[in-house]
Amino acid sequence: MYQERIVSGMRPTGALHLGHLHGAIKNWVRLQAEYPCLFFVADWHALTTHYDTPEVIEQNVWDMVIDWLAAGIDPAQAVLFLQSRVPEHAELHTLLSMITPLGWLERVPTYKDQQEKLSDRDLSTYGFLGYPLLQSADVLIYRAKYVPVGEDQVPHIEFMREIARRFNHVYGKEAGFEDKARAAARKMGSKKAKLYDQLRTRYQEQGDAEALASARALLEEQQNLSVGDKERLFGYLEGGGRMILVEPDVLLTESSRLPGLDGSKMSKSYNNTIALREDPESIKKKIRTMPTDPARVKRSDPGDPEKCPVWQFHLVYSDQKTKDWVGQGCRSAGIGCLECKQPVIDAVLAELAPIRDRAQKYMDDVTLVKNIVADGCEKAQKLAQETMREVRDAMGLNYS
Ligand code: TRP
Ligand code: SF4
Repeated sequence: MYQERIVSGMRPTGALHLGHLHGAIKNWVRLQAEYPCLFFVADWHALTTHYDTPEVIEQNVWDMVIDWLAAGIDPAQAVLFLQSRVPEHAELHTLLSMITPLGWLERVPTYKDQQEKLSDRDLSTYGFLGYPLLQSADVLIYRAKYVPVGEDQVPHIEFMREIARRFNHVYGKEAGFEDKARAAARKMGSKKAKLYDQLRTRYQEQGDAEALASARALLEEQQNLSVGDKERLFGYLEGGGRMILVEPDVLLTESSRLPGLDGSKMSKSYNNTIALREDPESIKKKIRTMPTDPARVKRSDPGDPEKCPVWQFHLVYSDQKTKDWVGQGCRSAGIGCLECKQPVIDAVLAELAPIRDRAQKYMDDVTLVKNIVADGCEKAQKLAQETMREVRDAMGLNYS
């Protein structure tokens, strides 16, 4: 249960584009081989801003999963699921809301930022204010160790860490905690109990981080401790009560080096994207009409790649030889912009061809997609239920 699990989600508000591919998705593909990963479609989160256009969400849910699969997310490695199909997320959200100070939510920077940015929508709703809390439930319910997200989401991870800490503080206390923790340690056998004790002392008296890490590793290895005993030993190690919810760390996704077609950030709202499954003719046309260095009015005017968004595409897609050719040809007016764009067109089409192919298989057989998701929901729900049993128990809700 304390294995290094990874959880991340995405809101289904539009077709995935190259910005997503070179940002989040490639990162997910790498991570799925290294960690147990859970990736989900955050359809409830999409409703916080798109509550009045549910049809947008409905259509994008399956398309998003198809894009993920096409881009290389492998259901044999990662668990893919839909947030709304694991209603335990909502239950945890409700329970966490009881201990969430309003001020904490109001102070999350994205709250006011987004309200200002999306001023055409009325976002003075309860659901929108609670966005980071729902996100906390998404992650805490799997006791995830890492959350791969972009810079903009860092305050949300900070927030969920505080919620987890508060939860453990309020509900992790139990009568006779220390005795129970010591009894749990003895269940590992006297040798390991002694080692645990020594490491705990070293950490608590000298703040020795290595001792803390060794003790955690020792606990993680234990196969025959109950979940409750593990929580006690993790908590006792750090000097608190039971550690029922785990504080996750951010795994910062490097922002995509690929800008939008106009040089600003690639985003659907700026209308400067290339979608993963976009038709090749449309891609060619979009790249051919991309703006270039404004100094190159005529073919004979020299330019500067640093002032041209096409150059940013070369930096992502082209080899050294091509880049030298661009630099030289642009500055000397030796090449024209259309000529310069051709290797980028070829590279983008080559990158997207296998993705489009793979997507076709799923588009032709949506049942296949739905089965993958159903399977993922079932796996996710099992994990979520384990945590919910502990949470209900800690909150006094396991009536018998
Ligand atoms: N808020 C995230 C975003 O806009 C999406 C999200 C919802 C998420 N729940 C999550 C991301 C849990 C990571 C973990 O990108
Ligand atoms: Fe941009 Fe290439 Fe034209 Fe130079 S030659 S301005 S880098 S498109």
